[in-house]
Amino acid sequence: MKVFQHPEYDAHERLVFCHDQASGLNAIIAIHSTALGPAAGGCRMWKYANDEEALTDALRLSRGMSYKNALAEIRFGGGKAVIIGDALRDKTAAMFRAFGRAVDQQAGDYITAEDVGVRVADMEEVATQTRFVSGLSQRGSAAGGDPSPWTARGVFVGIHEAVAHHLGTDSLQGVRVAVQGLGGVGYHLCQRLHQAGALLTVADINAERCQRVASEFAATVVSTDDIVSADVDVLAPCALGAVINERSLGTITASVVAGAANNQLATPEDGEQLRSANILYVPDYVINAGGIISAEGEYYGDVSEAEVAAQVDAIGPRLRAIFLEASATDTGTHVIADALAQSRIRDGRPKPMVSKLAS
Ligand code: NAI
Repeated sequence: MKVFQHPEYDAHERLVFCHDQASGLNAIIAIHSTALGPAAGGCRMWKYANDEEALTDALRLSRGMSYKNALAEIRFGGGKAVIIGDALRDKTAAMFRAFGRAVDQQAGDYITAEDVGVRVADMEEVATQTRFVSGLSQRGSAAGGDPSPWTARGVFVGIHEAVAHHLGTDSLQGVRVAVQGLGGVGYHLCQRLHQAGALLTVADINAERCQRVASEFAATVVSTDDIVSADVDVLAPCALGAVINERSLGTITASVVAGAANNQLATPEDGEQLRSANILYVPDYVINAGGIISAEGEYYGDVSEAEVAAQVDAIGPRLRAIFLEASATDTGTHVIADALAQSRIRDGRPKPMVSKLAS
């Protein structure tokens, strides 16, 4: 297995392979960049087919966090962790405590939180071993708690902006949206879209989640094979990555792709293909920053819930600027966003002075 020569290595600052015999923990912590603050990004638990697949995922997700946090203008660099295992079968409290100790050994260079397969209760176990953690149960009216509703809020704002820019309508009334994945983010996104008058087509591998969204939000359920090609205006991927790929590209009928999933483009060329087909791609790490914005407020403990809401809503104007520059320069939105993020990381800025680490 290649590490430093891995095609996704991209100048990562640190890669930590963590093993704990007693709990069976096998995890990778990837720290891409601390140029803009401690590297922050969630911990994913997934049944990877092999170690190489886990490493590739960790590296891609970690770089994505650097870009996401840079464009969200928060006091975090980028990192990510993956735990190799089936979240439904293999998860134990001891495993997350062992993971917490591994996070603690990074001495504040990596801050963890939830991602796919990991819940608030798991992070509470992590918090028994380290203070370098966010996404814990909400305390009073302070910022924090489950990041998914914040991510859904940002994705909703982003869909609104994309529809205004690309379809020329300022209302979501009657706009047809396909939501792939009805978990923490997908469910709350459907709720907001339904309230705004959008017409929903949905799919999830979990039939119960489909039924709930169908009955609460009048959504039409289709099979997981048919959701990407559904006859809609907007495709919102909210499950896993690489949904836009060589196979799916020719089947997409939506005019806008805007969802929460990380790494939606299998390759940058797939972004170019979307542009050629006049499909507006909303860069995933810009639109899905709501959760990490909330996590940042919780971690530093100096931001109110209202301030988090304002920061998440700023995703709209941020995207508008990217769309306008992409149109003006005839360039893909993913290229504009990457260039902006890379230049922010290159420039760097002073590390935060106020932090709960100092307390
Ligand atoms: P989740 O684990 O709560 O939900 C994912 C849902 O997708 C589950 O209901 C699952 O059954 C479904 N799913 C899996 N494979 C599928 C398939 N092939 N077709 C249809 N549905 C499928 O995850 P969550 O938190 O809702 O996150 C969704 C996506 O958004 C992930 O890619 C995550 O990395 C990304 N994201 C989440 C953030 C958050 O705050 N939770 C923040 C930023 C990104």
